[in-house]
Amino acid sequence: PPTKKSRLSKGVNMYACQNCTPLHHFNSRLTDALEILEQHAFFRLDQNAESRALAFRRGSATLKACPHKITSVDSLKNLPYIDTSNSSKAGHCKKVITEILEEGFSDEVEDIVNSDFYKTMKLFCGIWGVGPSTAKKWFDSGHRHLNDIKNLKLNKDQTVGLEYYEDLNTPVSKDEALCVSEIVKTVCMEIKKDLLVTLVGGFRRGKPAGHDVDLLISHPTQGEEKHVLPKVMEKLKDNFLYTDKKMSSGTTHPQYTGKSSTMDQFEKCFSIFKLDLPKSTKNGNEKPWKAIRVDLIVVPTDQYPFALLGWTGTKHFEREIRRYTKTEKKVVLTSHGMYTTDTKQSIEAKTEEEIFKKLDLEFRPPSERCC
Ligand code: CTP
Ligand code: MN
Ligand code: MN
Ligand code: MN
Repeated sequence: PPTKKSRLSKGVNMYACQNCTPLHHFNSRLTDALEILEQHAFFRLDQNAESRALAFRRGSATLKACPHKITSVDSLKNLPYIDTSNSSKAGHCKKVITEILEEGFSDEVEDIVNSDFYKTMKLFCGIWGVGPSTAKKWFDSGHRHLNDIKNLKLNKDQTVGLEYYEDLNTPVSKDEALCVSEIVKTVCMEIKKDLLVTLVGGFRRGKPAGHDVDLLISHPTQGEEKHVLPKVMEKLKDNFLYTDKKMSSGTTHPQYTGKSSTMDQFEKCFSIFKLDLPKSTKNGNEKPWKAIRVDLIVVPTDQYPFALLGWTGTKHFEREIRRYTKTEKKVVLTSHGMYTTDTKQSIEAKTEEEIFKKLDLEFRPPSERCC
């Protein structure tokens, strides 16, 4: 069972993967503020950027798991990553929450939101293929608008990212995601009738909208998923505006995937899909389609439950379940599988439920992983 330290009071546990974190919770005014601070810390790219960003995310995850609205500073007592008696890093979270509870807003958060730096970094990071380091380089060179970027040297992702900027920054609705999913399903059926297409990412957690569509492609017979992706891409070539195919490295067993736990080794395709819009939503001067980011990931069936868990998110949930697993269970968990760190013994599982069970975790359905 988890250590005592990991079971703090108020029912909010130390590892976000132990908590029930629904999509709709009671403290979004506070968590929105903490997530602005998280993003700002991440944008700054200074020495402790990552750990500072993480501290804000952990505080936010705690508040999302609180089964009631926080209305007083007193009720922050014993909350992991917020109550300062539990951790020194929690101080900043507590300070900002206190400001908002007592004054209705936080000067620090308001200043960030209104800053040239934050606004510009958000604008540039909204270009597909642009991360904070590129965005910051451009900001430091004095660029402030998308127009300033057009004549710079861009890579392929960034070029199309800029070209379809508006569409790609318009949320993808659940209906649009289901539409894309059906189109992919149809071509998969033509290739092999038992191919399975699963909508994962935010939509599997129940989000009504997202920034892309994540689809796992698998087959109930091990090996039958091989060579499927090029065929899918060929059949969909008129539906794609852009594709970036990543080869499988072949070394998918967790024992051999090395350190980087965030990047998996599945054969996959990051694409921009051209989705035809239904007539009713078309208006005269608008183009009759929408560019949508679609990720296709091909998963061998023996790794399916792990890929399902890994691609359902959130990113923070994944980070937390891997931290819990490593620290509390001495097990390495990836999107490919899990194995014990000491004996390097692989631990099998056929379902997500079985993975949680073998890790002594209470099962959390996707809708409760919204941390
Ligand atoms: N993921 C991953 N490897 C990648 C990209 C994403 O394992 N190369 C995982 C992420 O950790 C996340 C899930 O896949 O848990 C979905 O990622 P993403 O589409 O970025 O986020 P969503 O949660 O789907 O949010 P959104 O609705 O904004 O797309
Ligand atoms: Mn993105
Ligand atoms: Mn997604
Ligand atoms: Mn994605």
